[in-house]
This record gives sequence, C-alpha cells and structure tokens, in this order.
Amino acid sequence: MEEATNSLEMAALAEPYRIKMVEPIRLLTRAEREQALRDAFYSMTYINSADVFIDLATDSGTGAMSDRQWAAMLTADEAYVRSRSFFRLEKAIREILGYQYVVPTHQGRAAENILAGLLVKPDQIVLSNTHFDTVRAHIEHRHGVALDLIGDSLWDFDDENPFKGNFDLDKLRIALREYGAKVPFISITISNNMACSSPVSMDNIRQVSRLAKEFGIPVLFDASRFAENAYFIKQREAGYEQHSIADIVREMFSYGQGCWMSAKKDAIVNIGGFIALSDESLARRCQEMLVLYEGFPTYGGLAGRDLEAIAVGLEEAIDDAYLRHRTGQVAYLGALFERSGIRCSKPFGGSGVFIDVQKLYPHLAPEQFPDVAMGCDVYREGGVRAAAFPFSLKTVDGTGQIVTREFHFARFAIPRRVYTQSHLDYVGNVMARVAQNAPRNKGYRCTYAPEVLGHFFAKFEPLS
Ligand code: F0G
Repeated sequence: MEEATNSLEMAALAEPYRIKMVEPIRLLTRAEREQALRDAFYSMTYINSADVFIDLATDSGTGAMSDRQWAAMLTADEAYVRSRSFFRLEKAIREILGYQYVVPTHQGRAAENILAGLLVKPDQIVLSNTHFDTVRAHIEHRHGVALDLIGDSLWDFDDENPFKGNFDLDKLRIALREYGAKVPFISITISNNMACSSPVSMDNIRQVSRLAKEFGIPVLFDASRFAENAYFIKQREAGYEQHSIADIVREMFSYGQGCWMSAKKDAIVNIGGFIALSDESLARRCQEMLVLYEGFPTYGGLAGRDLEAIAVGLEEAIDDAYLRHRTGQVAYLGALFERSGIRCSKPFGGSGVFIDVQKLYPHLAPEQFPDVAMGCDVYREGGVRAAAFPFSLKTVDGTGQIVTREFHFARFAIPRRVYTQSHLDYVGNVMARVAQNAPRNKGYRCTYAPEVLGHFFAKFEPLS
C-alpha cells in the first residue's frame, strides 16, 4: 500500500470515469458550522446533509450509479409477477457469485431478518469473523448469541497483517469444540467491515469451510463488500496475482452454501439487497418469508428498476480499474492522514480509513467522549462528516468462555465513484488541522441518552 504515496500510483488514481452529471455541494462558513453543531446537539447523526461539504459517514447507498445503470433502469420491467428485470438479476448473480437461487430484499438487514428468523433458535450461537451491528441485532432478537472470532491483530493499528479480517482459526476451533452442536451457521463477512474493512484471505475462507464441513455446519457469506475482498486477495495473497477478479469471486463463494448482500455497497446502488443460495429448500422457505415482509419473490421490496441497477452494478464492481481506483482512494486518504501523525489501521482496507481516536485525543477520558470530540472537530474545521464507534464484541477466551471486548475506531468511509482526488486532498488538510487543534478540545458531556440505539440519538454539549 505504500506505493500509493509514490507518484506512479498517484497517477493511477485518476478517476476511471468522466463526470456527466453534477450535484452541487456547499461549504458553510465557520460561524454557520458552529451554529449547525449547536443545533445538532453536537452529534453527527443530527447534522443535516445539506450542511455537510464532504460526507464520509458511510459508503452504504451513497455511491454514484453509472450511465449503464441508469439506462438499464429506464428499460426495467415493473411487473409484479415474474418481471424480466428479476431474471436479469438472477442471471447476473448466478454468473458472478455462482449461487442458483436468488431472493431479492430491500436492503441487507431485510435479508438478515429473513435468514435469522429461519435459522436461529433461542440459545443458538452464530459464529463469524465479525458480525455487522444489524446482523448481531437480528441474531440477538431471536435470542441467539453472536460470536466474533477475529484475531487479536485487530487491536494493533500498526500490525501490517494483510488479512486482519480473518477468522482466528484457534478461536474458531475452540468455539466449535465448545458450542458446535448449537451453531446453525457460520457467517464470513467479506470484507470485514467492523474490523476496519480488512479483507479475509482465500486460505482462511477455505480453512473455515473445511472446519464447518467437519461439524456439518453451513457457511454463509455476508457479501456486502465481496468485490473489494476479492481485489485484496489478488493484491496480497500469494498465488492469486494472475487470477481474474471474476475467478477469485467464484472461488470465494464456492466455499459456502450461500450469502446475503447489502447491494448498497459493492453493487453500487442506492437501495437494495438479496439472499443467494445453493440450497433450493432453504431458498423456498426464504421466499415464503419474503412474501410476508418484503413482497412477491420476483421483486422482494424493490422496484424492477432497482433489480436492473443491482445486476449492472455487480458487473461493474468486479472491474479491475474500478477496484484499483476505489481501494487506491482509501490508501491515498490514509497516507494523507498519516502525514499529519494520525494513526490509521494498517494495511488500509476497503470501505474507508479507520483511525485510532484515543491516540488523537489522549487527554480525554472515555467519559469525556473523545469520539464526539473528533466528530465535532472534523465538522467544525471543514464541514466533513465521519463516524466514530465504540464497538462491543463477544468472543471466546482460551477455555471457551464467552468474553466481551471493546474496540474503538472512527471510520472515514468513502462513497463509491463520488469524490475526486481533490476532495480527498481537502479532507487531508482538514485532518491536519484537526490533529493540530485536538489537544485544545476539552471533551463533551451527554445530555440525553436513550435506552435504544444510543449512538444514533444521544445528544451532547461541550465541557468548558
Ligand atoms: N452487513 C455489513 C457488512 C454491513 O456493512 C451492513 C451495513 C449491513 C450488513 C446491513 O446492510 O444497511 O443494507 O441493511 N452497513 C452500513 C455501514 C450501514 O455504514 O457500514 P443494510
């Protein structure tokens, strides 16, 4: 990834697209930004999008669709029953992912709701490298337990392990030995969003699949960022340098029995998702639930045009030039941050740059909310929005006991095909100022903390 900072790679960062339609964005004055912060209770989730200059809160549903995607939408078939657009999506998924049975949903969590409802019984334990929040919530909603068997290198931002997203296979063996009979499925998140969007190696996927087979447990992928994961395998894993992304994708999915996907990520659409399975009987049961929650099996809570956009987006997501630029943007922004002394998780991953907030605000105790301090400083200095999370996960210790661990980070997620290199330079300059002024931030106190979804709805005020 270092090569991202040398001039050859910088040239390669030239956007592999031309801009055909523009959306104006406006930078408020500093006084206006101060007022917006006050009006938003110093919380990034209350700041209006219109008041944000560069929005790096998420890479989900925020991408720019291509001319091919828009063109496909115009010719979509909006029939309720057996729409032509469904068959186009089915064909794309069969060809690209290799699973036969396709169940569209309106987004990722709708797929999770259906799968958890069918597969997770009370007290069962779902094993993953790391579950995304909504997956964990759906498992717990069914009174199951979600375990995250990620390796310890996650906690070391400087550890250059190229596949920090991997399962810790020792932890997986321990969990299977202790709880194997209670595991309905193993979920492999590619790439591993909550673990700094780090990829999972092909070797790790293969070994997880082998262990799962020994215990007779199915493997499902949370495939939201599958294309980025495949690109990192090509870049970082010995033996895959000459493979095409399409081949790597097919091989990854061949080690599981199915997947679900939030198409808002690597299918580069603003809304959509699906379940794809090799098991016909599970697919039928998903379709029955789909009718209850989402819609008829050939549209699943989406318009025909959304199905078309996903089909085209999947094709575009596995393009080398697109992936080189996308992952190059993340590495480029990360290199700018590092130049200002900001500690980033290394090596850089898929969706954005993940930084160590505690290192940036060492003088603030957890009860002074360094996460909030950072979010406000980033907005105040340049109208940029990023997201900081304290993330609580459950894992196993050496004896198989379930233990809770915390991981703190802030994510600067980069929407797909939206911002240019000069936008990233701007964010780099903003962060240089944030790093310079961080010692002056006195922290925040919480004025409102709801019981549910605290991190979305909490309100704060600055300590003086
Ligand atoms: N799985 C992963 C790995 C995700 O990152 C997300 C969403 C989902 C599932 C849920 O999908 O939003 O379509 O319902 N992640 C977003 C994010 C919200 O900002 O990372 P969804």
